[in-house]
Amino acid sequence: MKFAILDGKIIERREAKVDVEDRGYQFGDGVYEVIRVYNGKMFTVTEHLNRLVKSLDSIGIKLPYTMDQLNDLLEELIEKNKLQLGTIYMQISRGVAPRNHAFPTENVRPSLVAYTKEVSRPLESLKMGVKTIVTDDIRWLRCDIKSLNLLGNLLAKQKAAEAGCFEAIQHRSGDVTEGSSSNIYMIKNGKVITHQSDNLILKGITKDVILQVCERNNIVVEERTFTLDELIDAEEVFLSSTTAEVMPIIEVDGKRVGDALPGPVTKLLQEWFELEIEKRCGALNDKILF
Ligand code: PDD
Repeated sequence: MKFAILDGKIIERREAKVDVEDRGYQFGDGVYEVIRVYNGKMFTVTEHLNRLVKSLDSIGIKLPYTMDQLNDLLEELIEKNKLQLGTIYMQISRGVAPRNHAFPTENVRPSLVAYTKEVSRPLESLKMGVKTIVTDDIRWLRCDIKSLNLLGNLLAKQKAAEAGCFEAIQHRSGDVTEGSSSNIYMIKNGKVITHQSDNLILKGITKDVILQVCERNNIVVEERTFTLDELIDAEEVFLSSTTAEVMPIIEVDGKRVGDALPGPVTKLLQEWFELEIEKRCGALNDKILF
């Protein structure tokens, strides 16, 4: 039997249902987080919960739980579901109210939903790299909020899927922003270059860990806007996300990156990222074989 969190209680997963007038369901009026679990432990949970609160603040939803309460609930859920390797999906919407675009005026309790999923590490892709396409970034101008509204991201990812690719790299008038569900990086002269964390991208938690690891190991990072031309011309390209970790990109829109194999800087970052996982969550059974 699997369990889920619904409004602060752990209940049977199949009993976890939301009202048709939940504003998350009708308007995408809410935010979410995806947290990685290795060895039954949440990776970078504090960072995820801090970002959740930041997203909630941006849209004026007050979290009806303390960070400690949320953390305890999520830990209990992992234990009840006996999750070792996977993810937690958690979303908070503004709550249930008669349909109206404007926020409800009476006190409506935000709805919290969370459940777990078993997800292995994508070891084969991490070792071999993945292919990508590029597409216009048609999303709104608050991509820093981890909003439930993901249509722009979905349309981009679907294009990638139809082209047999792992990810769609989005750009605004030739300036690379981010992937449909990941951050994008290129390596130039041994430097790691990635879009600055502003309103046009989501500030990835994986990105934060990568930048810390770079700093500790004296790898120079430039957070700046870069163009598609620079990307195509880069020595190495990779993406990052909670589920994809540090994922080498070997092809962009049919053009090979370098010699279409994961590059040396990317591989170093993968190795350091694995060490970071082990430091926080304990030894991994399955690792990328370098
Ligand atoms: N996506 N940018 C976008 C648009 C994303 O959706 C994600 C993550 C990231 C990377 O963020 P992080 O390193 O914190 O996972 C960047 C999650 C995993 C998802 O929607 O499933």
